[in-house]
Amino acid sequence: MSSEKEVQIRKNQGIQPRHVAIIMDGNGRWAKNQGKSRISGHKAGIESVRRAVSFSVNHYLDALTLYAFSRENWNRPKKEVMDLLDLFIVVIESEINSLHKNNVCLKIIGDISRFSRRLQDSIYSAEEQTKSNQGLRLNIAANYGGRWDIVHGVRKIAGQVKDGLIQPEQIEEETLSSHLCLHKIAPVDLVIRTGGEYRISNFLLWQVAYSEFWFTDTLWPDFDEYVFEGALNAFAQRERRFGGTSI
Ligand code: IPE
Ligand code: IPE
Ligand code: MG
Repeated sequence: MSSEKEVQIRKNQGIQPRHVAIIMDGNGRWAKNQGKSRISGHKAGIESVRRAVSFSVNHYLDALTLYAFSRENWNRPKKEVMDLLDLFIVVIESEINSLHKNNVCLKIIGDISRFSRRLQDSIYSAEEQTKSNQGLRLNIAANYGGRWDIVHGVRKIAGQVKDGLIQPEQIEEETLSSHLCLHKIAPVDLVIRTGGEYRISNFLLWQVAYSEFWFTDTLWPDFDEYVFEGALNAFAQRERRFGGTSI
């Protein structure tokens, strides 16, 4: 494994991502393949979350953003939604001390107002406990939607225009960026999607304007260090031109 200094050089060369975002998909199919219930697939997926977080800490990523629950996931059967949200409480409460020990700063992105009081309290207390940590910034997207994020930002700006604090012609790309989730941290360099689908499913929209994408058929519960390493190796081969030319 590389030292922090070596990783820093690789980040500056643009061959190691600072910020990776993952669409963790395939828990249900994994469970089906095993003849188990969907929720046991979600439970198995928690081990992959632990592995992905440890990997990110050990590889000195600045940020890891995980898509755990979309705004559209409310469309699932009520029992699955309830089980998922209960699992979320258990995971936050059981993992937070270990995250804190590893200097991880946890943030939940998304509209948490629709969650139970208990889940909201667990989220606030976990964020509070880890807010000063300077290591990995771990963002969990819960009741998140890329369109919601943009609408939410636009509403805040509209309020400022209404109050006369800014003029419409003063609104720049940066104005909107600064009102969206993840604005204070490194841009998303790499988006990984497991589970074999090739779509964004309303995950980060604005924030992935120049991200690299990497897809794998691996189902989320089977995602491990080797698969993650494969994604980083693929990223290292990409040439990011940002609209410019390479030679
Ligand atoms: C991803 O796995 C987890 C969530 C969306 C919460 P799925 O539950 O979507 O698994 P598949 O896609 O049905 O296999
Ligand atoms: C995307 O997975 C959402 C999360 C991983 C939380 P889905 O399984 O909900 O996506 P679709 O429905 O296949 O697009
Ligand atoms: Mg799915």
